[in-house]
Amino acid sequence: MTPIRVLIADDITNTRDDIKRLLYFEDDIEVVGEASDGNEAVTLAGELKPDVILMDINMPQLDGIGATEQITMETPECAIIIVSIQGESEYLRKAMTAGAREYLVKPFSASELADTIRRVNELHKKRNIHLLNTKQQETSSQVRSQRGKIITFFCTKGGVGKTMLATNMAVSLAQDARKKVVLLDLDLTAGDAAVMLNISVKGTIADLVQEDDSFDFSLIDTYLVPHLSGMRILPAPSSPEQAELVHPQHIQQILNILKSNFDYIIIDTAPIYSDINLEVLEASDQVLLVLNQDLTTLKHVKTAQEILSTLNYSAKIRVILNQHSQEGIKIKDLEKTLNTTLTAIIPEDQKTVRNSINKGLPFVMSQSSTKVSARVKELIGLLNLAKPADLKEKNPPQKSIVSRIFSF
Ligand SMILES: Nc1ncnc2c1ncn2[C@@H]1O[C@H](COP(=O)(O)OP(=O)(O)OP(=O)(O)O)[C@@H](O)[C@H]1O
Ligand SMILES: [Mg+2]
Repeated sequence: MTPIRVLIADDITNTRDDIKRLLYFEDDIEVVGEASDGNEAVTLAGELKPDVILMDINMPQLDGIGATEQITMETPECAIIIVSIQGESEYLRKAMTAGAREYLVKPFSASELADTIRRVNELHKKRNIHLLNTKQQETSSQVRSQRGKIITFFCTKGGVGKTMLATNMAVSLAQDARKKVVLLDLDLTAGDAAVMLNISVKGTIADLVQEDDSFDFSLIDTYLVPHLSGMRILPAPSSPEQAELVHPQHIQQILNILKSNFDYIIIDTAPIYSDINLEVLEASDQVLLVLNQDLTTLKHVKTAQEILSTLNYSAKIRVILNQHSQEGIKIKDLEKTLNTTLTAIIPEDQKTVRNSINKGLPFVMSQSSTKVSARVKELIGLLNLAKPADLKEKNPPQKSIVSRIFSF
């Protein structure tokens, strides 16, 4: 039988030696490491992956509670037993909240120590196996029931081009890649995707959420406005005060249903950290952080990167530079500050973009020979959203219709 591997974290050498002595005759328990402060305990937990950590509370640098919190997040497979002295009950409560499994109050006997280690180890192992099984079941049922990918354009700085990119990319995915696409305008107080697409709005997401406590696709479908390109749009509320009718639970329900009915759900967001946006960021497969070449936008994107990585969403992040020109911060400096490679660079083209917004016709349809249009279409390939073959026009629209609609 493999012994239970134990790490001792205590700043006093004598105490560590005492614990080692108490465990010396226990054949099924092996001390594999010693840490003399909280930071060292966190590092050794990651490196040695012990089964059990005996953690002192008062230690220099990072104390036992901080170390417990960090290890519970980073190395959850380790079970932590807090070792304390009498009168530290407030600390004990904090330690248990931080993720410790058990505590031992000094002085304790060799058998008390060994029995606690065995019991905690067994319970923690069982819990880990249970968690693993549940996670595997959840993942496989998600894979079965949900096929659509959620792509979200996000930046807490306004006016960087989220809506312009979201509308054009959604249109291109529907029109060129022939995918089933829905665009969700979740800029709930100031959404303007419907204006950019020149669609007449009858019902919005605010009306939809007032319909029923639980939706099904047939209900949502009645609110999806078809666009010329083939994609559908769920418009933002028509007045700002209606935004508060929409709650994160609604978004969760709507997204789950749309995922089973569309290939892509493209989401345009408001430039804020709100409950709605946090729900969206969590559900997203890819989060496209839209960057411009100025210092304030760079700061917003850098902060977003940090927040998303704290939430463990780093793998979803792609940074898209929009309105690229020769002026402004250089690409290499942007990449250096963000410590990432830009996924795509969309040029500034005021004439094309303004023209398309004013006419309510996305430039990927109406001005497809421009560089800005080519770059947005390339974005689909760069994000691995559709295979290159899918992007070839299978049935190009009849020339006469195209020229009638897009006569400039
Ligand atoms: N590539 C581009 N070239 C030139 N102008 C652009 C480009 N992209 C966006 N713009 C301009 O920037 C303006 C803001 O774009 P957009 O509305 O898409 O930004 P947004 O990030 O959605 O803003 P908000 O946060 O306010 O919703 C638009 O009016 C458009 O004219
Ligand atoms: Mg916008």
